[in-house]
Amino acid sequence: MPVNFKDSKTKENLMRAFAGESQARNRYTFAAEEAAAQKLYVVEAIFKFTAEQELAHAEVFYEKLKECAGENICVDGCYPVDITNSVIELLEKAEHNELEEYGDAYKNFADVAEQEGFLPIANTFRQIAEIEKTHAERFGTIAKLLREDKFFVADAKVDWMCLNCGNIINTEKAPSVCPVCSHARGYFVRLAFAPYTSR
Ligand SMILES: [Fe+2]
Ligand SMILES: [Fe+2]
Repeated sequence: MPVNFKDSKTKENLMRAFAGESQARNRYTFAAEEAAAQKLYVVEAIFKFTAEQELAHAEVFYEKLKECAGENICVDGCYPVDITNSVIELLEKAEHNELEEYGDAYKNFADVAEQEGFLPIANTFRQIAEIEKTHAERFGTIAKLLREDKFFVADAKVDWMCLNCGNIINTEKAPSVCPVCSHARGYFVRLAFAPYTSR
């Protein structure tokens, strides 16, 4: 049944979501630093790219709290401590957390918002849940390739793009250095995963 926003669970769930998104953004920024330290520059780029999207999610949720401007909202919540030097584990933990947001937290928040009569907010939770699913798939795919030692090695010739200079090479293995800009193998990604490409 409809409830007043200030008395709602939805208000608290928006704050939980804001906290979760904010923390995800920071965790991915730290993970990007770890990937860069291990010369996995494409993984660094993926973490940074996703971190920016978490910032956008945080902003969407935060703006829906406008009615509570000037107040504090107290909530409890559980948040992961994903500290490890393993980039593969960082990707897998990120995948796990994204799937929890998608399949559990945001689905539940959406249902509560709907029951409380906040349909646009329910819709936002559902839309962002779908985005988190794509995040999970992206992290999972990269983690699997790294775990199987296939991130820089394909089963047959494929196009690779150097994310530094845009050079595209058709080979089985990504080159150890880019023949154009001399950047290391860590800059190469399968063209299929490269941003803003049409093939
Ligand atoms: Fe998010
Ligand atoms: Fe996400």
